[in-house]
Amino acid sequence: MNRTLAIIKPDAVENHRSGAILAHLEREGFVVRAARLVRLSRAEAEAFYEVHRGRAFYPDLVEFMTSGPCLPLVLERDNAVAHYRAVIGATDPAEAAEGTIRKLFAESKGRNAVHGSDSDENATREIGFFFPEHELAGLWGQA
Ligand code: CMP
Repeated sequence: MNRTLAIIKPDAVENHRSGAILAHLEREGFVVRAARLVRLSRAEAEAFYEVHRGRAFYPDLVEFMTSGPCLPLVLERDNAVAHYRAVIGATDPAEAAEGTIRKLFAESKGRNAVHGSDSDENATREIGFFFPEHELAGLWGQA
């Protein structure tokens, strides 16, 4: 079992697609280990997407990710990073395969419904960005 960080982005939250996307992910065998509805500040969005700083789309990306609440999730299943990326499809919904989350729910390359970690290393960093280790442990510890 391993984990990935997913974000249901502001477009999908605003369009009331969070439930449908969560159902899709659970049908795919992902277990939701943590979830939080958050409104990112500009500084937080810039830091989260630091790797893209300098790219032409970076200002629009930061603007969009701060435009409303989003829903970061820690998802668990075997081969989590690769399986999640297959389930969400290509970044641009016009290129995403039929039945993928972005094909079903995304509007455009920018407003593309969901984010996903692209490697185990980044999954660890991105999970830590939203969910402190002690909080995750507390969620699933003994009641
Ligand atoms: P995400 O998986 O959140 O990672 C970076 C985001 O930048 C990506 O999804 C897209 O929503 C957004 N983006 C906007 N334009 C581009 C582009 N030209 N190439 C890659 N990503 C883009």
